[in-house]
Amino acid sequence: MTGGLTPGLTPGKALRSEFPIFEHATYLNSCSQGALSLRVRAAAEEWLDGWDENGAEWEFWVERNEAARTAFAGLIHAAPDEVAVTTSVSQGVSSLVSALDFSGERNRIVISEYEFPTVGQIAHAQALRGAEVVHVTPEADGSIPPERFADAVDERTALVCCTAVSFRTGNRHDISAIAEIGHASGAIVLADSYQAIGALELDVRTLGADVVTGGTVKYLLGSAGLGFMWLRGSLQSLLPTQTGWFADEDIFAMSIADYSPHSSARRFDSGTPPVPSLYPGTAGMEIVAEVGVPSIEAHIRGLADRLLAGLDDLGATVATPRGKDEYGPMICVVSTDPNALVAALAERQIVTSTRDSNLRVSLHLYNVEEDIDRVLDALNANRPLLAS
Ligand SMILES: Cc1ncc(COP(=O)(O)O)c(C=O)c1O
Repeated sequence: MTGGLTPGLTPGKALRSEFPIFEHATYLNSCSQGALSLRVRAAAEEWLDGWDENGAEWEFWVERNEAARTAFAGLIHAAPDEVAVTTSVSQGVSSLVSALDFSGERNRIVISEYEFPTVGQIAHAQALRGAEVVHVTPEADGSIPPERFADAVDERTALVCCTAVSFRTGNRHDISAIAEIGHASGAIVLADSYQAIGALELDVRTLGADVVTGGTVKYLLGSAGLGFMWLRGSLQSLLPTQTGWFADEDIFAMSIADYSPHSSARRFDSGTPPVPSLYPGTAGMEIVAEVGVPSIEAHIRGLADRLLAGLDDLGATVATPRGKDEYGPMICVVSTDPNALVAALAERQIVTSTRDSNLRVSLHLYNVEEDIDRVLDALNANRPLLAS
């Protein structure tokens, strides 16, 4: 396998040569997709090479699926048995809600306004099964304090959804506090951590949530098609009615006579594993694990603070809240015309993205101070596109 990383590597300059995009661009868009590394490219090619040489490598694929499960588990300080390997957050969350009964008194799903569309849409789809969806909305500063959840959660609540980091604003939820509120009413608490995993340390032993999900596209540096769902032990006996043969207690039994889900969180797996995504996904997670999430998080915080200070100097309006634990790898800047701003930055080979009226600038292990200075210079040159 190519790729020049060594364990114990520090984030920043030393990593840049592993990510060819930095030869021609300032990449600040990991919130959409992590940059491609030499190692992840080599892993994707390994999949094709194996196919060419050996045809179906079923046993090896099953091994790869287990390697992905172990890698996800390691990143969140869980045991592999507590983790389902999924093809997307959507698949995991759909199988989770398929195991819940919304026909009785406890039929509410409480979602924050910052949930990703897939979580909101899956929640609303449960209206067909008797669920009622309650939205928790942000304060004027963009934060959603736990008290807003307390207003919405009661003994009718089956599930509370509080994304770890908002894909719209970069706001971080206080998951522990929200989980306490949910648990006091007997609800299950789900934290979609797609915008956090790989960039912020997540420890399921202390996080408070009962279910944590995410995937490899963004800060885990892999491709689309691979995700995970961790479930607290007490939830691993739920019975998902949305299922598949890889969720069976014995996938090679090939029985069509019954439903016998695996005794572990594997019961939330589905069909044939996402083989083409397992190779790049595990390779991307390897890079993150070698550098270490705590050191990535500290690196990102340094860059985010440099960016915020520069934005203040420019008089820009920042949509991301400023409290110590309220922001992570993505900083959002309010723009008068966000698409025009993204295009203006792209002319300078600076890659960013937008949501709502915000420019999204996201930071990861390969970014350096020069990237921040470059984007600040470009924003200065485009001041009319910044909302004051
Ligand atoms: C917070 C969050 N959740 C989920 C997703 C994606 O969900 P899925 O894996 O179902 O495509 C994304 C990004 O695309 C996201 O930002």
